[in-house]
Amino acid sequence: MPKISSLEDLRKIKEEASDLTSARSGGRVRIIIGMGTCGIAAGARAIMDAVMRELEKRGLKDVSVETTGCIGMCQQEPLLDVIRPGEPRITYGRLTTEDVPRIVAEHVVNGNIVEDKVIGRTD
Ligand code: FES
Repeated sequence: MPKISSLEDLRKIKEEASDLTSARSGGRVRIIIGMGTCGIAAGARAIMDAVMRELEKRGLKDVSVETTGCIGMCQQEPLLDVIRPGEPRITYGRLTTEDVPRIVAEHVVNGNIVEDKVIGRTD
């Protein structure tokens, strides 16, 4: 990586990074998995695997899968957020791999929130 020697360099890096982010998530359904240390300890990797398998199985190529770090909700891990364009961000918690196909089918594909697994929502 080139050395950052001016504010202009920093600005360029920021613009490139935001281009990448919007390219990955622009207008698409986003799935965000909590991969902080406690998330991983609680099984977030298995959740990630289950999400990838389910998207593959259903041939869903227009869904972005992202990770996030600690969001201060250890006791509710593993966590997974679904954001459909123009709709609130829904956080699901205390997940098992068995919950993943249901969330993908109900919420990601059909837009119906899986209420019994919701632990938070942000408008
Ligand atoms: S490490 Fe678990 S909430 Fe931060």
